[in-house]
Amino acid sequence: MTSAEIHTLNVNEDNEPGSLLGEDQFTGTAPGATPIPARGTQPAFLSVWDIHAYYGESYIVQGVSFDVREGEIIALLGRNGAGKTSTLRAIARLDDPALKHGEIWLDHQPLHDMKVHQAARNGVGLVPEDRRIIPGLTVEENIDIAQIAPPKGWSKDRLFELFPRLAERRTQEGITLSGGEQQMLAVARALARDVKLLLLDEPYEGLAPVIVQEIERTLEEIKVHGMTTIIVEQNAIAALHLADRAIILDMGQVAFDGTAAEVLDNKELRHEYLAI
Ligand SMILES: Nc1ncnc2c1ncn2[C@@H]1O[C@H](COP(=O)(O)OP(=O)(O)O)[C@@H](O)[C@H]1O
Ligand SMILES: [Mg+2]
Repeated sequence: MTSAEIHTLNVNEDNEPGSLLGEDQFTGTAPGATPIPARGTQPAFLSVWDIHAYYGESYIVQGVSFDVREGEIIALLGRNGAGKTSTLRAIARLDDPALKHGEIWLDHQPLHDMKVHQAARNGVGLVPEDRRIIPGLTVEENIDIAQIAPPKGWSKDRLFELFPRLAERRTQEGITLSGGEQQMLAVARALARDVKLLLLDEPYEGLAPVIVQEIERTLEEIKVHGMTTIIVEQNAIAALHLADRAIILDMGQVAFDGTAAEVLDNKELRHEYLAI
């Protein structure tokens, strides 16, 4: 979608009172406009600004703000129930939790004005915790189906090069893969679309350390290609080793935003929010 089309969508569809901030209340909707300034002088690639999100009456994401530069890996950490999944879902523009206030900009596009399919078309790739492998389809077909909707991302050849285990199993039914292989397939499916922002919800959950290392290596390789990634993990140590920066959530708010090294060095912070 072009920025002009998105602008049209903003004007035509997203002006209902009481939904998000109205056109007159924020300044960035004109095509090419520069959103909120980021840290330093470089504009952020992803800018999450004061987002508030609700499941029905339950107020869960309570004014979360952070910036991500292009190509950065962010570890989004915090105790169980801190609001990590909800924050990813809000960024991906799923209906629940409902985003009631705030702005989310990705590569100069206003995600906050978009529905989930528009956010996906504009480069948001969410890999949810349950991995969503499609039953009845082979590994290859799971990738093919992700590539049906344009814009296309990585080619199958490139994906199979990145994930040799998947190449070996390309004709095997996706849901018969091991947990780690299913996680790889879930990431491959996201990359098969043209993704600018990869959102990974607990990719290491339930996986053996050796598989975690294998997926880590793949994520590092994806990073070399400039992929901007937010990784939510209970395995904070593994996520911190991969990440450039860490954001810690507590009760739906940002409790810490700094480098991954700062978290690893700060015993109190680790004890208080990460139990490590
Ligand atoms: N569908 C839902 N309806 C109502 N409350 C929910 C729903 N999903 C999550 N929550 C609540 O939102 C809070 C944050 O959950 P979540 O974002 O899943 O946390 P995390 O991923 O950090 O463990 C929790 O208190 C949880 O109970
Ligand atoms: Mg979660």
